Amino acid sequence: MDKFKIIGKSRIAGEVSISGSKNAALPLLAAMLLPSDETVLHNVPTLKDTDTLIKLIKGMGVDIKKEGNTVIADARHVANYYAPYELVRTMRASILVLGALLGRFGEAEVSLPGGCSIGSRPVDQHLKAFEAMGATITVENGYVKAQAPAGGRLIGCDFSFDMVTVGGTENVIMAATLARGTTRLENCATEPEVVDLANMLVKMGAKIDGIGTPTMTIEGVEQLHGCEYSVIADRIETGSYLAGALMSEGDVLTKNTSAEFLHPVLKKFEAMGATITTGDDWIRAVMKGRPKAVDIRTQVHPGFPTDMQAQLMAVCCLADGTSTIIENIFENRFMHVPELQRLGANIKVDGHTAVVVGVDSFTPAPVMATDLRASMSLVMAAACAEGESVIDRIYHIDRGYDDVENKLKALGVNIERIKD
Ligand code: UD1
Repeated sequence: MDKFKIIGKSRIAGEVSISGSKNAALPLLAAMLLPSDETVLHNVPTLKDTDTLIKLIKGMGVDIKKEGNTVIADARHVANYYAPYELVRTMRASILVLGALLGRFGEAEVSLPGGCSIGSRPVDQHLKAFEAMGATITVENGYVKAQAPAGGRLIGCDFSFDMVTVGGTENVIMAATLARGTTRLENCATEPEVVDLANMLVKMGAKIDGIGTPTMTIEGVEQLHGCEYSVIADRIETGSYLAGALMSEGDVLTKNTSAEFLHPVLKKFEAMGATITTGDDWIRAVMKGRPKAVDIRTQVHPGFPTDMQAQLMAVCCLADGTSTIIENIFENRFMHVPELQRLGANIKVDGHTAVVVGVDSFTPAPVMATDLRASMSLVMAAACAEGESVIDRIYHIDRGYDDVENKLKALGVNIERIKD
């Protein structure tokens, strides 16, 4: 397993170009299964997770290739509707092919993704909605088998999600685009990545109302056609690099991004003392002095995103005062706490609440990346510690941060990959 060697202390400053959003690209890639002709998707980040999904779709017989940041898929011929455990277990978002396959072909067999380090993460809402649309669902030997009713098409229905789920909303809207009749979904996720998917589906000929609101109405059509589309910028990657400026009295300019999706995070950065300026496609954070403590509670969009919790916690570790962080989305998303403690942080966890008492500085240590976003909090903390730190298990960071070493180097971080 590769490791990062980081020698601090660095002032994190410079310019960085933001890649396409991982969490938008994954459902968009799955949606390429829906039309029976060619789709071209631009601004796809080069990541382990996007590679996995491309491999999964290729395994179904789709003619799919990635050239630079563009993926071209011709889904005219799909040989099987099967997603094997070997690929699904490496990435939960593989479950997103279920909705596309079931919608277009009326059947699918997809491995259950199982739990992951940040919590049990069931897919009961996805399955419940497909059942409401007339599908027969069986779970056998770790695989979900789904079959549309006679005639091979799902049937539009009224369905309300019991909780807000990003993946559930995405899976069900994909399936509903090709269902017979109208599907009315309540309590939908409104995350920018869901909106991006809905916008591409509309470009493919889908009829969707209420995009970006909790109630979406999808009128099923007979078929979708291919289109050309570009993935939105990664709001979490943007926020992660900007957080580096706050931790190091730095100055970070993120380009090819948008402040539109990041308001709850930028507001916290300002409350911590950063000067934030924005343009059409850039955001800059300038920090003078020590950050101020803040309270954060993660919530569904437009609340503070859980995917920025670990990075904000790393900033709070160096803040003047005591911060309280409440994690409301995932049951086990404080695994980075013991690792941040190894770097000198003062954090106490009680259930879903972490109380962070700011310290003057981080101290170098060997640490272990625990999940994707947590990895970035450790990288930034190590960059701010005087001396050498080694971060193990960085395969987590490779899943979600495009070209991470070069981007960090451009921001002044002394980082080196140690190959296994
Ligand atoms: C997506 C993001 C992830 C982000 C999360 C919340 C992708 C690829 N991943 O994950 O980075 O942290 O949204 O913003 O886009 N739940 C159920 N039953 C279900 C579905 C979800 O109980 O059927 C629960 C989950 O266990 C979790 C919560 O609902 O506690 C939110 O999950 P969900 O919004 O579905 O997250 P993902 O789509 O998996």
